[in-house]
Amino acid sequence: MVEGSMIILGIESSCDETAVAVVDDERNILSNIVSSQYQDHKPFGGVVPEIAARAHLTHIELIVNKALEEADLTLDEIDGVAVSGGPGLIGGVIVGVMMAKGLAIAKSKPFIPVNHLEAHALTARLAHDISFPYLFLLVSGGHCQFLIVEEVGDYTYLGGTIDDAVGECLDKTARLLGYAYPGGPTIEKLAMKGNPDAFLLPTPLKGQVGCSFSFSGLKTAARKVILEKKNTTSSFQADFCASFQKTIGEILVDRARHAFSMALEKKPEINNLIVAGGVAANQYFRECLAACAQENGALLVTPPVSLCTDNGAMVAWAGIEYLKRGFEGSLDFTPRPRWPLESLKVK
Ligand code: KG4
Ligand code: ZN
Repeated sequence: MVEGSMIILGIESSCDETAVAVVDDERNILSNIVSSQYQDHKPFGGVVPEIAARAHLTHIELIVNKALEEADLTLDEIDGVAVSGGPGLIGGVIVGVMMAKGLAIAKSKPFIPVNHLEAHALTARLAHDISFPYLFLLVSGGHCQFLIVEEVGDYTYLGGTIDDAVGECLDKTARLLGYAYPGGPTIEKLAMKGNPDAFLLPTPLKGQVGCSFSFSGLKTAARKVILEKKNTTSSFQADFCASFQKTIGEILVDRARHAFSMALEKKPEINNLIVAGGVAANQYFRECLAACAQENGALLVTPPVSLCTDNGAMVAWAGIEYLKRGFEGSLDFTPRPRWPLESLKVK
């Protein structure tokens, strides 16, 4: 372990957010700037990789400067530069990695490329005093998987989606109802006024061994109901969203039960379930998963919403976790479109 205080700049540009943050090793977030490209992609109904890369390039320098300014620090006072080195949309990842390398070289500071998924997995330790090992569920627009987080750089994959991610299922269904990306928050809002028992929807893989997910069947069934009912009234939308959300909650809880039994068999000392990714912002899912964690003698811990969605603070924090352990990246690092978490091993 490296002693003494440490301040890291973290850059995130692997999807549609250009984000930069400054974080110290006492878990203080000195700045956390997120510039969303939401408006750039809106006309296309989804993230367009080429537009994303160009927008990152346009904004990144400004966002870096803003993050430093808000932290009231200069680059000379930073102890290292961390960046999401993948997985993600490669154009954006390249922009972030090049910026991070440039800053690190210019100021002779450590360069720390981090795995974007690992940054999500470690965020709980930035927001809360959590020790290893813990069970981790990542639920976002592109990811849906359970892992055991054993240590920094040491992950055991338990199961994940065999088709769509849960966020994708929420977004595509919201779109059929006539709502723009991101659909998850809209569905949560509409669900509040609806009857969760109005529609019976399928719960793929529920009760089956392992903790894989499948959402394509649910997505198709939802589509059928929306088209059949012609999506006419607001009470239909509320009832449908409430039922849809309840069904996803049921799936998440069933899979989490299985994930717990797999994880506890391997690591009986696990007493935390950490959920991160954009979908973790959903209050109803949080309540379902909290009850499931309690059943398993564990506590559900979710980072604050601003740290659940893509941000630079989680990247800076992952950089701190690595640098504290004496790990520095190489300037030869190549941006990675794919980078499975379980392939990491630094011990
Ligand atoms: O982690 P994230 O910001 O981006 C990546 O996909 O990497 O996650 C975005 C996803 C979208 O699918 C969005 O609909 C979903 O998170 N989401 C929610 C909520 N807020 C965001 N899903 C359900 N309820 C929410 N409140
Ligand atoms: Zn993410």
